[in-house]
Amino acid sequence: MIDEGARALIDAARGAARNAYAPYSGFAVGAAVLLSDGKVVTGANFENASYGLSLCAETVALATTSAQGRLGDVVAIGVVGGMIGADGPSGTVPVSPCGRCRQIINEAAQLAGRDIPVHCAGAEGETIATYRLSELLPAAFGPRELGIRPRSQGASD
Ligand code: THU
Repeated sequence: MIDEGARALIDAARGAARNAYAPYSGFAVGAAVLLSDGKVVTGANFENASYGLSLCAETVALATTSAQGRLGDVVAIGVVGGMIGADGPSGTVPVSPCGRCRQIINEAAQLAGRDIPVHCAGAEGETIATYRLSELLPAAFGPRELGIRPRSQGASD
């Protein structure tokens, strides 16, 4: 069964990947964050000449979500990635979030009180692999351990 919600998020992430700034790796990643009111916030990887300063697509998308006051409203995330060629990013192998991004996603998951589904695809978007964050980052340390309670921040824009 095709999950239409997953497909829509992957398509949004593919659009975002076209704006990846990835001149060093040549690998474009796009992320799309679905909020509880249906809004979608996107991000793309943002590399830097000082390589270690580069930001992943998921981190960019979730930082933008937080800047909009919506980190507690995250419902699902889509991620795509692939090598950049003459016709844009390509590839069929699903890209799943790096370790640092899993921890960043966990911040949203615990604030939202949801085991967020993470939909992953290659840049061509065909095959979608879906994981729960608890599969990607079991026994996570997060805001809960520091006494921060789940909250829904509500629409602020
Ligand atoms: N990248 C992401 O944006 N997200 C991930 O989860 C994996 C890796 C980016 C970082 C870097 O700009 C490029 O992909 C190659 O590692």
